[in-house]
Amino acid sequence: MAKPTAAGWISLQSKRLLLLLLVVFSVSTVVALFVRNINEACETRRDVSVSSSYGGGRVQLSPPPVVAAGEGLKSPLGFMRSKLVVLVSHELSLSGGPLLLMELAFLLRSAGASVVWVTYQKPSETNEVIYSLDQKMLDRGVQVLSARGREVIDATLKADLVVLNTAVAGKWLDAVLKEHVHQVLPKTLWWIHEMRGHYFKLEYVKHLPSVAGAMIDSHTTAEYWKNRTHDRLGINMPQTYVVHLGNSKELMEVAEDYVARRVLREHIREALGVRNEDLLFAIINSVSRGKGQDLFLQAFYESLRLIQEQKLQVPTMHAVVVGSDMNAQSKFEAELRAFVSKKGIYDRVHFVNKTLTVAPYLAAIDVLVQNSQARGECFGRITIEAMAFQLPVLGTAAGGTTEIVVNGSTGLLHPAGKEGVSQLAKNMVKLATHVERRLTLGRKGYERVKDRFMERHMASRIASVLKQILQKSKRPSM
Ligand SMILES: *[C@@H]1O[C@H](CO)[C@@H](O)[C@H](O)[C@H]1NC(C)=O
Ligand SMILES: *[C@@H]1O[C@H](CO)[C@@H](O)[C@H](O)[C@H]1NC(C)=O
Ligand SMILES: *[C@@H]1O[C@H](CO)[C@@H](O)[C@H](O)[C@H]1NC(C)=O
Repeated sequence: MAKPTAAGWISLQSKRLLLLLLVVFSVSTVVALFVRNINEACETRRDVSVSSSYGGGRVQLSPPPVVAAGEGLKSPLGFMRSKLVVLVSHELSLSGGPLLLMELAFLLRSAGASVVWVTYQKPSETNEVIYSLDQKMLDRGVQVLSARGREVIDATLKADLVVLNTAVAGKWLDAVLKEHVHQVLPKTLWWIHEMRGHYFKLEYVKHLPSVAGAMIDSHTTAEYWKNRTHDRLGINMPQTYVVHLGNSKELMEVAEDYVARRVLREHIREALGVRNEDLLFAIINSVSRGKGQDLFLQAFYESLRLIQEQKLQVPTMHAVVVGSDMNAQSKFEAELRAFVSKKGIYDRVHFVNKTLTVAPYLAAIDVLVQNSQARGECFGRITIEAMAFQLPVLGTAAGGTTEIVVNGSTGLLHPAGKEGVSQLAKNMVKLATHVERRLTLGRKGYERVKDRFMERHMASRIASVLKQILQKSKRPSM
């Protein structure tokens, strides 16, 4: 009697599955959105095309956090209880930087802190996305203020902590605080997610040396900031803390649900015309030269050639490029398609539009290729997301990727640039011919993610930074 029947099990499973699919497909929570967008945090802020499911008021707001007595103390951020924190964002949008800051806002709220959100740039038009993000924050008890006015200055002066998000937000300091700037700098933490030349401008970052600290997404990026500010601008970085990002609970829930993964895999493969037994390599990043989709396709073509040449017995191989923007009609997009058609591999290469939800693709593929060029990713959130799905990563030996992927253990690294193409091709062949190896790399990746790239790890790293900043700002330097 007590034993559940098979049918009962299935219906229970499918209910759970439905729920998961809702989470995955409805784009219902900001966190689910955040999963996609944070990958772009280090790069140019692309405008996120909002999927149609965002319309019609389907954005569901999570209930406000219930902070039971003492609950705030259990969180690593418990010491922030009843502290006032002002978060300064250059904009309120679905791009990586703001969404990461929003995650921090909610972490602080659930620890019992008062949080004021200041948006530096009001969007020219108030669209539905902004409205719903605004609503979501209000629902969680975050007070949203526009960047100017007495109210903002008062809150900032009263605050225990000010967090400036992205290099660009530096402009806000002088523009709004004016003569109060130097009172505020000693309690300011600057969270930086960029690694591009045009951010190294005094106009943005001249107050960097005087803030209490800087928080940066990877060691490589921190090093780069240190070099560039010193060499280019002649200023020194303040005390700098590296905080790696972590996977959201929502993503992990899908990644760890075998049934959900299988259903998503079937669904996506069917849509692409890829059979279950085929081997699917993917690159998931908005399409641009910096992300290296061209070199990825060259390597893929090269791997097909190697397999043919050496008469290797391997599954049929496919490549998918997730992150196209067909509307943009960019030269680069055209170049990718021209390559595919010139080499006659259009039955093996698939293009998928930019999407906010990557989990279905992660469930469907066998290998993630992280092919960001030059200095690489500032962090590269898609890398830890793929590892959560037990996928091996073939990545460029650059940027944040080198801090996430362990060469030979959780993936294989190749050099950035044209000279990396043949190595990447060989690595693809290696994973095609050595199934066991491939699966082991994936499992090791999963273990590594569980070990150090979860939301709770990020929260406790941030907690330790905030603690130090608070202590520092209390010292009587004023
Ligand atoms: C920073 O400069 C040092 C010394 O010049 C160099 O060895 C290092 O590679 C540079 N790091 C970055 C990330 O540019
Ligand atoms: C991809 O985007 C293009 C242009 O916006 C659109 O015409 C096409 O239907 C989209 N494809 C899918 C599968 O959504
Ligand atoms: C990664 O490991 C392979 C095999 O051990 C080695 O040949 C390659 O040079 C390594 N790459 C990097 C970037 O460490």
